[in-house]
Amino acid sequence: MKKRSVVCGISSFLPENTLTNFDLEKIVDTSDEWITTRTGIKTRHVVGDSQYVHDISVKSAQTTLERAQITPEMIDCVLVATTTSEKRCPSSAARVQDMIGAKNAFAFDIQAACSGFIYGLAIADSFIKSETCKNILLIGADTLTLFTDWTDRSTCILFGDGAGSCIVRAPTEGDDRGIVTTKLYSDGSKHDLITIENSEKNCFRGYMTMRGQAVFKCGIENMYQAMVDVLEQTNMTFDDIDWIVPHQANKRIFDSMHKIKGIPIEKVILTIDHHANTSSASIPLALDEAINSGKVRQGDTVMLTALGAGIVWSAAIVKL
Ligand code: ACO
Repeated sequence: MKKRSVVCGISSFLPENTLTNFDLEKIVDTSDEWITTRTGIKTRHVVGDSQYVHDISVKSAQTTLERAQITPEMIDCVLVATTTSEKRCPSSAARVQDMIGAKNAFAFDIQAACSGFIYGLAIADSFIKSETCKNILLIGADTLTLFTDWTDRSTCILFGDGAGSCIVRAPTEGDDRGIVTTKLYSDGSKHDLITIENSEKNCFRGYMTMRGQAVFKCGIENMYQAMVDVLEQTNMTFDDIDWIVPHQANKRIFDSMHKIKGIPIEKVILTIDHHANTSSASIPLALDEAINSGKVRQGDTVMLTALGAGIVWSAAIVKL
């Protein structure tokens, strides 16, 4: 039996404040009908004043530690996948390490946009397999609403804030649960499809800009190919997958993938209607909700896939 890095203690945290499509109708020239039919989004959570990536990360991490039954001292690495840290440096991971008292851990951020959580899984898996670490706290957290141009109706309707986390730990004898495989990709020639400019010299925050239709097409082609690649890599088919938990960018991406590529849509878990696009938090948020509702169970095999700015994309298969 292959030894795998075990994923446990999956949790998430959403900020209290919400912003509905009807609220957005009062800010920009849009409608609930347009947003719902074009994206599947109805509402989203947004951070409050002085609430940053490290704050929401800590909230999620505390639940993860309880669920995984490990103490902060047992963590030897803290990884935070994010593109929206409060500061360019120090990292959000270092802040989290201090705030939760993980005094034996090293810590760093992963900047892989919406693919950050899967990139984090791959990095954590390597640290576990090389026996560098035994217990890794992996967090995906983003506050894209702080980098949103609220006068741009083509982007400001898309994003929400949130955090999700898990422990990736060393395997125990006789346990076949864990990370089956991961695959990461990048195509920097498409770097201008999604950007947040660095405007710090001008003393203002850069805003998210996106060429939506081009990203939409990449979303279908690249995430589909990534899923096919990890299935081939493991001699599996979609029949062996219980659930597909994708990055939640637009409901229509998966409707189209079903129509064009024939992916089993009934296995796709979508929470975009009430989370919107929370970037690196979207997969653990969806996974946590699906586990809490009883839909996804221990022992299930889940396919994860994501695509974001870079562009960078990825897929992973995990037996929970
Ligand atoms: N309300 C009303 N009308 C709007 C709005 C709005 N909020 N936004 C755009 N429109 C209008 C446009 O002006 C345009 O009008 P026109 O035809 O008169 O010129 C029309 O709607 C169509 O605009 P499109 O941009 O073609 O709309 P589209 O159907 O492509 O939807 C969207 C835009 C939702 C951004 C879509 O392209 C998309 O989801 N792209 C993928 C996003 C993605 O996958 N992101 C993942 C990576 S990025 C990340 O996650 C951080």
